[in-house]
Amino acid sequence: MNQLSSSDFRSHHPLIRDLLRSLPRIASTDANILIQGESGTGKEMLARYIHRLSPRASKPLLAINCSAIPEALLESEFFGHRKGAFTGAVCDHKGIFESVRGGTVFLDEIGDMPFHLQSKLLRVIQERSVRPIGSPFEHKVDFTIIAATHKNLKTEIKNAKFREDLYYRLNVIPISLPPLRQRRDDIPDLIEGFTKKFSKKYALTEDLSFSENAVIELKSHSWPGNIRELENFIERTIVFNLNKTKIEKGDLPSFEEREDFQQFNYFRNFPTLSDLEENYIRYVLASVNLHQGRAAEILGISRRTISRLLNQKSHEL
Ligand SMILES: Nc1ncnc2c1ncn2[C@@H]1O[C@H](COP(=O)(O)OP(=O)(O)OP(=O)(O)O)[C@@H](O)[C@H]1O
Ligand SMILES: [Mg+2]
Repeated sequence: MNQLSSSDFRSHHPLIRDLLRSLPRIASTDANILIQGESGTGKEMLARYIHRLSPRASKPLLAINCSAIPEALLESEFFGHRKGAFTGAVCDHKGIFESVRGGTVFLDEIGDMPFHLQSKLLRVIQERSVRPIGSPFEHKVDFTIIAATHKNLKTEIKNAKFREDLYYRLNVIPISLPPLRQRRDDIPDLIEGFTKKFSKKYALTEDLSFSENAVIELKSHSWPGNIRELENFIERTIVFNLNKTKIEKGDLPSFEEREDFQQFNYFRNFPTLSDLEENYIRYVLASVNLHQGRAAEILGISRRTISRLLNQKSHEL
């Protein structure tokens, strides 16, 4: 992640190419940035890249996910607290705006921030100071903000879920990442990038590629989970085809059942015991980064049996 560059952010989409070209200029200012886009479109990856381009790159980027932290804790995570401020506050705690010390605060899923905390956040942005819970003192803070959300904040404002004044504060530089189905031409390039990534992860010795038909098939899918879904799909395909150098259309897991292996609905296709055995061995091997000893432990067989079974299977092909 440290070495993130524009070539990692794969896209030929004209809007994204334009955006990437303008990023150095955007990142050089301290203006707040709001990234909107469906789940899995690359919001966090883009935020990290912007931070790396900014004059704050040597300082930390601290992320806080407003939808993942219980409401009761969120206020303290944002602004900090003094020892004894509430039950369980056994020592002083610095909030994210203080801890970031001149870096970037990445406010992820800002659309899920509780309404009553939004006015406090607005104050911190305006005053550039925080008052930890239970503290009589204001602390000066230095930060820049990149916020992200998959929600449509205009709709949230209409429904009185999001403060309009905070929205305008955050939305100084609006960035919108299009869903993958609107940039299908990026799919071949993304497949290539993920194939390289997972070939390395699973220590494949031979070059692996996807056939033209397989790519066409993947381009025709709608990818509701966007790039994250495509990435997971490519990893799963590779795990199930560790002995191949070319992935054909027929080697792709079916879209409908692609999650099902873990949910044990995989059996619905009535695989033979031998297919099931081979796929399961490969699945376990891949899950432990091809560590045969650990796989043998999980499977309850010896390492030699694993090699024998897999060799036997590849001879049967
Ligand atoms: N343009 C891109 N090129 C290569 N990989 C990408 C690109 N955009 C996203 N990814 C990869 O896709 C995955 C999802 O990206 P990211 O976590 O940034 O999305 P997100 O919009 O924050 O998703 P969510 O809303 O689910 O949190 C990551 O593994 C990321 O590395
Ligand atoms: Mg994210």
